[in-house]
Amino acid sequence: MVSPKHHLFICTSCRINGTQKGYCFQQDSVKILQTFLEEIDERDLSGDVMLNNTGCFGICDKGPIVVVYPEGVWYGKVTVDDVERIMDEHVEGGKVVEDLVI
Ligand code: FES
Repeated sequence: MVSPKHHLFICTSCRINGTQKGYCFQQDSVKILQTFLEEIDERDLSGDVMLNNTGCFGICDKGPIVVVYPEGVWYGKVTVDDVERIMDEHVEGGKVVEDLVI
């Protein structure tokens, strides 16, 4: 069984038919996901951090949304520039990035 230390869910506005259409997608959430993948790879954390894209969480006005488990922290209006902070402070540092919490 896979048991990562952190599991990140990123809204890429995926529809049930596989298309990506929606607010978070329009706000570069695929680039955010790709940047997380690069950071995880560069930090050699692929065994510790699992990443999944999701469909709409229903709070598009707060998107792009990133949810981090096991803490269950929801980040909103995340940008590509926030990815390094979330990785540094939360995933590796164990400290929630309070100003991004929704
Ligand atoms: S499209 Fe991301 S929360 Fe709705």
